[in-house]
Amino acid sequence: MAVKRKLISTRTLESGMRIDQTITDSRTGKEMIVKGTYLDDFQIGYLRSKGIASIYVSEGDPDPDELEFHMSAKAIENIAKETKADAPKVEISREVLKQVGEGVQYMFSNTDSENFAEASQNVSRELVKAVLSNDAVAMDITMLKSSDDYTFRHSVEVATMSMLLGKNYGLTRAELEELCIAGLLHDIGKSRIPNEVLNKAGRLTDEEFALMKQHSLFGFQILKEKQNFSEAILLGVLQHHEKLNGRGYPVGSPAEKIHKFARIIAVADIYDALVTKRPYKDPFSQRVAVEMIMAMTDELEMEAIKTFMRSVNIFAVGSMVKLHNGEKIIEYAKVVQNFDGYPNRPKVVGVDTGQVYDLLNDSHYLSMAVDKLQAKEGEEEKVEKTVDPHAQPAPPSPDTPLPADETPV
Ligand SMILES: [Fe+2]
Repeated sequence: MAVKRKLISTRTLESGMRIDQTITDSRTGKEMIVKGTYLDDFQIGYLRSKGIASIYVSEGDPDPDELEFHMSAKAIENIAKETKADAPKVEISREVLKQVGEGVQYMFSNTDSENFAEASQNVSRELVKAVLSNDAVAMDITMLKSSDDYTFRHSVEVATMSMLLGKNYGLTRAELEELCIAGLLHDIGKSRIPNEVLNKAGRLTDEEFALMKQHSLFGFQILKEKQNFSEAILLGVLQHHEKLNGRGYPVGSPAEKIHKFARIIAVADIYDALVTKRPYKDPFSQRVAVEMIMAMTDELEMEAIKTFMRSVNIFAVGSMVKLHNGEKIIEYAKVVQNFDGYPNRPKVVGVDTGQVYDLLNDSHYLSMAVDKLQAKEGEEEKVEKTVDPHAQPAPPSPDTPLPADETPV
């Protein structure tokens, strides 16, 4: 959201509002309140006592570049002193994402194809290479923009995150290759759900919902018929909506019967769904989504949640955030360090005061939280478009050359 400037009566001013003009003492010429200050009760009292009837305030988050430009000397000094680079993150080129997204679309449209298993190997190969070829231990899920269509893009995102979780979970290379295929095909059963139900913008009827819940079983059946998929892949697909408390579907399997692939895919699947905008829901912020996952201890495996917490990067070092206490903004700040396993509690430096806020280790800041600055219009937000999943893209080829120097996204 861009910053909006508006004139407001000093009688209706509230603490925490940001003044968008500098107030100067008419007698001495001294600056009393500087433009951009978040007003407190004392300053509001000052304005009223001086008989000032109205002032300009600004609403919305400032541009990160603007914050960078106006940063105080103390902030610059502390940022230089405190910055510790993030652990390596997964980087996947747009070309790979596009290719894998189209490959998944092909798989959805050609479940009866004789070379289905071979095609799935080809589709997953580049993604496996991209995720496992370096020592990346974390990822920023918003970097993935593989396809405009929800189902296909979601499949690529879930496969990527599942592999990273699996890697941090300690799975072998061979297992990770299988997990990639299970992640890419976890919703393949949706190809058997009519489009009117799959893409319905409104609430599903009970019957439609019951049908929708069959998609994991349909997926299992599709892959089982092929006879080329391992039991781990079959169970990963069949059980990705099962819950440890036995309240999942399609079977309501108890915890001990749920395969580790399904436990991992479930975390990636839920997280990706939470942070994605759909025709019928707004996305949750990554911070809130991570907190929701942390609270799902009845449903998701603790080890998978912990692995997830170590694998997700929400606030990259160097990014601008707003520090708040749930009610009002404390200060805009720059992220200088992340702590392993605590993606919501980075160390940040306030851009005005230069104050160092260690949200994990300093008990003074326990009540504070950080959120990303709102993206400028048209940027970053994951807006979904639904298209016909039965459309016919080109079949994936095992040796489509990839540009060597694709810019990572
Ligand atoms: Fe699903």
